[in-house]
Amino acid sequence: MPRTPEPRSASAEPELKPSHARLRELTSKALDGGGPDKIKAQKAKGKLTARERIAYLLDEGTFQELDLLVTSRATAFGMRDRRALGDGVITGFGQINGREVGVYSQDFTVLGGSLGLAHAEKIAKVMDLAYEARIPVIGLLDSGGARIQEGVDSLDGYAEIFARNVKSSGVIPQISVILGPCAGGAVYSPALTDFIFMVEGASHMFVTGPDVVKAATGEEVSFEALGGSGSHAATSGVCHFVAKSEPDCFRQVRELLSYIPQNRWERPARVANPDPIRRGTARLEMLCELDPRRPYRIQHVIWQLADEHKFFEVQNGFAKNVVIGFMRLGGEVAGVVANNPAHLAGALDLDAADKAARFIRFLNAFNIPIVTLVDVPGYLPGVEQEHGGIIRHGAKLLHAYAEATVPKIAVVLRKAYGGAYIAMSSKRLGSDFNFALPSAEIAVMGPKGAIEILYSRELEKAPNDEERSKLRERLAAEYAATFASPYQTASTGSLDEVVEPSQLRFKIIRALRFLRDKRVPGQHENRGNIPL
Ligand code: HXC
Repeated sequence: MPRTPEPRSASAEPELKPSHARLRELTSKALDGGGPDKIKAQKAKGKLTARERIAYLLDEGTFQELDLLVTSRATAFGMRDRRALGDGVITGFGQINGREVGVYSQDFTVLGGSLGLAHAEKIAKVMDLAYEARIPVIGLLDSGGARIQEGVDSLDGYAEIFARNVKSSGVIPQISVILGPCAGGAVYSPALTDFIFMVEGASHMFVTGPDVVKAATGEEVSFEALGGSGSHAATSGVCHFVAKSEPDCFRQVRELLSYIPQNRWERPARVANPDPIRRGTARLEMLCELDPRRPYRIQHVIWQLADEHKFFEVQNGFAKNVVIGFMRLGGEVAGVVANNPAHLAGALDLDAADKAARFIRFLNAFNIPIVTLVDVPGYLPGVEQEHGGIIRHGAKLLHAYAEATVPKIAVVLRKAYGGAYIAMSSKRLGSDFNFALPSAEIAVMGPKGAIEILYSRELEKAPNDEERSKLRERLAAEYAATFASPYQTASTGSLDEVVEPSQLRFKIIRALRFLRDKRVPGQHENRGNIPL
């Protein structure tokens, strides 16, 4: 018979054993970080503490901490007296949307979040465990960089982390969230990861700060202009996502993770899809009526195609002539790569090639099908582009598409000319399904340029300007009748189907479902996501 428990009174609380009391004392000390004054200073800057950040990021109550009691072993420069439990970084595991992740969060209140050897070893440990457990790693960075008092040990600490970033590349997703300073060589760990988040006004990344820049080159520049989120999201392309605040940032990280799998052996999670797969996309008819030179934002097309019109765009401020991101089609995740006629007429240039190529390589590494939307007049002409290495950068895009073994579906919406036609996932480059709208133009070049080359002598011989312009018009119309349609391409099999705009969503979803279990040699080889 079960015994009835004795009623508990306050005095019946068992006395804390000395060993437990010591544990609680140490734990409480460690949880205090750099102490109340430093925490106050952190808050005064509008920043959350390292522990608050973890609480925002993870599902409630799921954080399991490691190495709470680790301290620095350094002694020089007064370090013996400045040792802090945890050594300025919180590491461990938790869940996001019910899925496991490894996490570390640098604590700026302890020695400015600077990285000494013990701090680095803690990060390395969580990275190693996440690699073996095949789960993503998220780093929350807020640090003054290499801990000066620890000398070369700090630099070696960074080397340990970089080596693990590379080992994990393309194996588990790696995400870096910059929430304060990230200076010097410290920037290279985030740069080796798949995605970088920054917060407006709070995050700064640079190899050499404003003072060194001024001493070296005489240029005067503020922290924000040199390494703020605006510069890295729009100009350098280092940053993939900008948030208005820290909570907004963690919400975005959680959303990003919903599109990507846990590791390179898995697929992204399938979700229940309330949006009918046969939903028509008649609004895309406008593409067939638009002048081929008229700009429009490609996002409008993506929203039409995607489940519930949802598109999670990546790097939306950089190289806007190509748009990349995630959507779901019939409940399955797909990566989108699309020319954007609203910017540089959608032409491919140096930055667009790099942006698209790296994203394609990420998608391929993590088993995410690629949907390519093509509306491209060609490569951007100019000395700057040629001398900048458009040959070298453009080749990355060709390489990324050709090597990708995930399902690849491409749609020519309005036009695809020349080398850019090939580069944007053309059939013979290895794409699985290639569609075009009935009004699509596919040719070596547009009518205007083509007739100047083909008929230069005839045009020269025209008796006057009026006759010349009439001849131009006639020749351009003849050229267009042959090439300004998808039918020559369809007749060679380089297009699988010419599709009416209203059917496009359904056609892409059908193709994706057909390709779901696609198998090709080499697809299980390790594919690192090298920064391009
Ligand atoms: C040791 C550091 C530190 C560092 C900051 N602190 N950076 N301690 N090593 N690298 C300490 C400060 O001494 C201070 O300690 C506390 O952190 C807070 O710093 P403040 O300067 O008071 O804060 P703030 O005004 O907000 O300025 C933050 C900062 C600045 C911009 C990050 O501290 C700074 O410029 N630090 C140096 C950055 C740097 O040059 N790092 C080395 C980069 S080279 P007290 O005791 O006062 O609380 C590098 C190489 C990596 O990282 C190579 C990898 C291959």
